[in-house]
Amino acid sequence: MIYSRIAGTGSHLPDRIVSNHDLEKVMDTSDQWIRERTGICERRWAAENVTTSDLAEKACLNAIEAADVDPAEIDLFMMGTTTPDLIFPSTACLLQKRLGLPDCGAMDVNAACSGFLYALSVADKFIRCGDAKKVLVCGAETLTNITNLQKRDTAVLFGDGAGAVVLEASEEPGILSTHIHANGNHADLLATKVGIARGWEGMEENGGKPEIVMKGNEVFKVAVRTLGRIVEETLTANGLEKADLDWLIPHQANLRIIAAMARTLDMNMDHVVVTVDRHGNTSAASVPLALDEAVRDGRIQRGDMLLLEAFGGGFTWGSALIRY
Ligand code: ACO
Repeated sequence: MIYSRIAGTGSHLPDRIVSNHDLEKVMDTSDQWIRERTGICERRWAAENVTTSDLAEKACLNAIEAADVDPAEIDLFMMGTTTPDLIFPSTACLLQKRLGLPDCGAMDVNAACSGFLYALSVADKFIRCGDAKKVLVCGAETLTNITNLQKRDTAVLFGDGAGAVVLEASEEPGILSTHIHANGNHADLLATKVGIARGWEGMEENGGKPEIVMKGNEVFKVAVRTLGRIVEETLTANGLEKADLDWLIPHQANLRIIAAMARTLDMNMDHVVVTVDRHGNTSAASVPLALDEAVRDGRIQRGDMLLLEAFGGGFTWGSALIRY
């Protein structure tokens, strides 16, 4: 049996820290509201000329270094992002050249906040079926490009960043299972309202860029319910109990959603990796950023059982159970 295991992790954040107090000065919000409703204290915003591929490149190089692999050996590159540099070529293709990867398959997956778990799931399947031996998987976003930074309902939530892992084929698990789902019935609750088919009218308000529109409290309720289900699906698929988990590495959208998942799993928050307080919601980057942080600071050790989960626009949702 072939499994994929995480050989190395990496991440990268822009230098600019934007605190709740910075936002209080430019819009009708308060540090107290943002902390109480979301758990966010600060987030990182990329400089105007910095793109998703710039952040992703650094995260990928960190992961390649940590995995101690030669980029020429990578035989698939999966990139989760909702904020690609261009419509095409894909961000994965743009980066393939910059990272010195061979002529391997390279593609973007657009699954909003679940993008990394979608990309990881595809990568895992390629390794399990024997078509790839080393796969680079990245989640990266410059969400500030599609956020109206004047509007308090979204500006306080989102941030920029990138995280990556190198997966390699192994006889030992590794990734035990991945689960991905989608339901387009609620597409309008969380979306950008412009695009190739709809046209680009209405972008003046956001300086000529698309903007995220979200019915936050409705998304919140669906997210909690849906994540509860996928967590159960993942444990059941592997015949495991809640107590078998060492770490929850959740999507970092809202501390209240994260805490609800911890309660569902009877897990102490000490075993939940939380970065939302410092990163805000970085969409596809949030899970690999949290994973890399906890690997590098030594909380996550080889042999630990990890549950990764995410929920995002689409709606999409996904999970992965991993023996690290
Ligand atoms: N500062 C102060 N007040 C605010 C702010 C703000 N930044 N934003 C909204 N408010 C106000 C609203 O106007 C509203 O006022 P009203 O009662 O007078 O009408 C009040 O606060 C409550 O607003 P709600 O939207 O009901 O607040 P809620 O408690 O639901 O929190 C939040 C909003 C944080 C967005 C929450 O609903 C949430 O986290 N939702 C889920 C987000 C998510 O998981 N998204 C999926 C991933 S994102 C992706 O895929 C790109």
